[in-house]
Amino acid sequence: MAGRRDGSLMRDKTQSFRGSRIVTAIVVGVLLGSVCAFFFPHGFISSDPPIQSRRFGKLDLQTSSSQCESTERINMLRSDIGSLSDKNDELKKQVQDLTEKLRLAEQGKDHAHKQFSVLGKPHKAGPLGTVKGLRTNPTVIPDESVNPRLAKILEDVAVQKELIVALANSNVKAMLEIWFTSIKRVGITNYLVVGLDDEIEEFCIANDVPVYKRDPDEGIDSIAKTGGNHAVSGLKFRILREFLQLGYSVLLSDVDIVYLQNPFNHLYRDSDVESMSDGHNNMTAYGFNDVFDEPSMGWARYAHTMRIWVYNSGFFYIRPTLPSIELLDRVAGRLSKEKAWDQAVFNEELFFPSHPGYDGLHASKRTMDFYLFMNSKVLFKTVRKDANLKKLKPVILHVNYHPDKLPRMKAIMEFYVNGKQDALEPFPEGSQW
Ligand SMILES: *[C@@H]1O[C@H](CO)[C@@H](O)[C@H](O)[C@H]1NC(C)=O
Repeated sequence: MAGRRDGSLMRDKTQSFRGSRIVTAIVVGVLLGSVCAFFFPHGFISSDPPIQSRRFGKLDLQTSSSQCESTERINMLRSDIGSLSDKNDELKKQVQDLTEKLRLAEQGKDHAHKQFSVLGKPHKAGPLGTVKGLRTNPTVIPDESVNPRLAKILEDVAVQKELIVALANSNVKAMLEIWFTSIKRVGITNYLVVGLDDEIEEFCIANDVPVYKRDPDEGIDSIAKTGGNHAVSGLKFRILREFLQLGYSVLLSDVDIVYLQNPFNHLYRDSDVESMSDGHNNMTAYGFNDVFDEPSMGWARYAHTMRIWVYNSGFFYIRPTLPSIELLDRVAGRLSKEKAWDQAVFNEELFFPSHPGYDGLHASKRTMDFYLFMNSKVLFKTVRKDANLKKLKPVILHVNYHPDKLPRMKAIMEFYVNGKQDALEPFPEGSQW
């Protein structure tokens, strides 16, 4: 009881304190205004950014003598009001964006809080259903010394310490163009192309696309130039490591991807790796119990197995944590030694458990919604044939299942952006080899 009374007293005090502050602020404002009007009747700014100078022009209206001039002023003011209300819409949009960011930040804080309560001190397990294990690992302390030049670029480009990153060389120029056009269209600013040759760097600069070209003598790039195929396919994971070391979360993106919404509004951010799936329905994307039948075993003929379609190593969100960096190192390390497909290695490292002679990676993982982060099999096999699913607007579309990537990307833009209902029809479900 006592506590509550104190609480309401405190509230009364803060309210009256706030009230008196508001009054003071108004008085100060009025005084300042009069002083300004006296000393600067023509405003502060002489060279004219259109809105500011005309707003001060209102003061002139009273002193101007000719009727004609004041009509002109009124028209100018009218057009100001027009442009101000445009500005207002813009501001409203910014406020919405900020609110969204705040929500996401709160969400992040919440994860961090839960995290701390798990890590902080030894615990008794709570009652049934209240216990949660670790999922959101703590982020590493940023280390700028790893790559000061990249650190500087990321300070400018990243939003809330996260960004989209794509590697590109001039072989994929045409796809890259659709990629960044779609990104710009939905208003994403935090993206960066890691340019692997001069031509692609110039192409990005010419198109106002943030680009980062590595120094030729930075260690890993000599691998890119001189190394064999395996070494090069490990390059992506090595470059990514620096982003994480600098403390950034990366949404790694291939360039055969069309963006239809801002993915950062659709992430959970609770796991080390959050990835799109190569799966095409609930079972294949999210995992299922696949029963293996061996009739000769009689009573025990059914053996249960766990299956899940692989994560797509061309589109995943990775948080800057130790397990994430360990994953990148393990994948890069294996790719430098064996002839293997990077996506297969990525999945094996993520999913295989520890066993005799092997320490598995203990990274937390989350599968993205396969309708929002859609692969091209889902689109061309299922979605385009289903009246309801056709109405759904994915966040991204990844043309990962088809080799004729460029025409399919264009068709996807036509269908989802320009509303051309039959744009997807000419394409076969699968590729014809
Ligand atoms: C797939 O899962 C979602 C969410 O769990 C559910 O709403 C939907 O009905 C499922 N679809 C099918 C075909 O089972």
